[in-house]
Amino acid sequence: MSKLKGDAARRLEGKVALITGAASGIGEEAARLFVEHGASVVIADIQDESGHQVVASMGSDKVSYYHCDIRDEKQVEETVKHTIDKYGALDILFSNAGVIGPLNGILDLDIQGLDNTMATNVRGVAATLKHSARAMVDKKIRGSIICTTSVAACLGGAGPPAYTASKHAIVGLVRSACSELGAYGIRVNCLSPFGVATPLSCKAYNLEPSEVEANSCALANLKGIVLKARHIAEAALFLASDEAAYISGHNLVVDGGFTVVNQSNFSAL
Ligand SMILES: NC(=O)c1ccc[n+]([C@@H]2O[C@H](COP(=O)([O-])OP(=O)(O)OC[C@H]3O[C@@H](n4cnc5c(N)ncnc54)[C@H](O)[C@@H]3O)[C@@H](O)[C@H]2O)c1
Repeated sequence: MSKLKGDAARRLEGKVALITGAASGIGEEAARLFVEHGASVVIADIQDESGHQVVASMGSDKVSYYHCDIRDEKQVEETVKHTIDKYGALDILFSNAGVIGPLNGILDLDIQGLDNTMATNVRGVAATLKHSARAMVDKKIRGSIICTTSVAACLGGAGPPAYTASKHAIVGLVRSACSELGAYGIRVNCLSPFGVATPLSCKAYNLEPSEVEANSCALANLKGIVLKARHIAEAALFLASDEAAYISGHNLVVDGGFTVVNQSNFSAL
């Protein structure tokens, strides 16, 4: 993983980022990495205590916490405004907050649970995209928007139905936003992680972090490496940085080849 070597390696120097779901897991790791790379970061989440702890543990005046429930459009609008008032710009939105929702299969689908999952993973992400893009357009900022989806956005059977549907919807939202926002120089991409040990994956399946990692290692095509939240954060850093200046509408799948390799044993046929 990247180690900074002097200021030249600070790939987000002077940029301002808003990261949702950054009180924990992938978002927290991205907040740490973005600040290391010179960005000012607003961590937006509903877990206020954890969010404040993350900020305190970073010991930097370039990161702050703001309460935002992405299901509430008003809160999203206020959070975007807060980011601009505090740091003067919004160059990067990492719309990462998400929930796994009900684990039931389609035959037992919990419809209310599906609505709740959609309210966060689709409606919430759409609201962050809308208000961040508006702010970027208003301020003529050629920004970068990154939305976290999942390998469950690439194929069936990699997650429960409600989650899978919501993550597919984010890909559609990103492609649609990409087509509209390109005229303003705004890039819009998604990031699709494979299973990584975070509170979301551990709690949903009642597993220890080491068990989540062991499952991913067993299923992964790429061997000899354990997927960590830091790897996903590194991919977000790339999409946020000028190194990805001509990349828009892309779904960057961070899965060590899991979704492109047939898992069935052809040679046995
Ligand atoms: N962990 C995995 O294996 C995995 C795999 C693929 C995709 N993802 C996706 O990565 C993203 C981050 O998840 P994670 O694994 O880091 O889990 P996590 O639980 O550690 O982090 C998710 C964060 O989102 C916040 N959040 C949830 N609902 C919110 C809301 N309504 N408003 C604001 N914040 C809210 C939570 O409080 C939490 O801090 C999610 O979108 C998830 O679907 C995770």
